[in-house]
Amino acid sequence: MIQEKVARKQASGDRPMLLSLRNVGKVFSNGVTALSKVDLAIREGDFLSLLGPSGCGKSTALRLIAGLSTPTSGQLDWRGSIDRANIGFVFQEPTLLPWASVFDNVWLPLRLKGVSRAGAEPAVMEMLSRVHLTGFENAVPRELSGGMKMRVSIARAMVTKPRIL
Ligand SMILES: Nc1ncnc2c1ncn2[C@@H]1O[C@H](COP(=O)(O)OP(=O)(O)OP(=O)(O)O)[C@@H](O)[C@H]1O
Ligand SMILES: [Mg+2]
Repeated sequence: MIQEKVARKQASGDRPMLLSLRNVGKVFSNGVTALSKVDLAIREGDFLSLLGPSGCGKSTALRLIAGLSTPTSGQLDWRGSIDRANIGFVFQEPTLLPWASVFDNVWLPLRLKGVSRAGAEPAVMEMLSRVHLTGFENAVPRELSGGMKMRVSIARAMVTKPRIL
């Protein structure tokens, strides 16, 4: 269970606040308490790491922040124009579409926003370059290594240029 143990790489300074968690708790319907009394402030430019043993609630905290789940106590306060639409999420598993090419997997979030394949091409190719997968656009997930699949997943999360990744 995460209890306010957060490693902060940068001093907060006076960069604008994006999100704060106050006294956040999550108890699942089976009675498992995954989070208790978590306070966390996320500022523009922060690089935050949640550290802790397997099962301590890290993914649960990230899922709350991404809006994929709701807290059972406490609250999340968004500042400014941040919402689910400008959060990028890299799941713990690659969660790629197995039948779709690397290009089409990375295009997916833009496609859901109505961007055509041709219109998405510059952004998709830029992200594939950033994760060192240029040349693998036409590969399908079963042709990739585990790390390559995760890098496709990271490219997919970054392709919308989210404010929080
Ligand atoms: N949907 C769920 N229903 C019930 N319990 C859950 C659910 N999701 C997670 N849990 C429980 O909540 C706790 C925290 O899980 P979580 O996935 O957040 O851990 P984690 O810190 O990300 O672990 P790991 O390092 O292994 O990824 C665990 O005890 C897990 O069994
Ligand atoms: Mg996890």
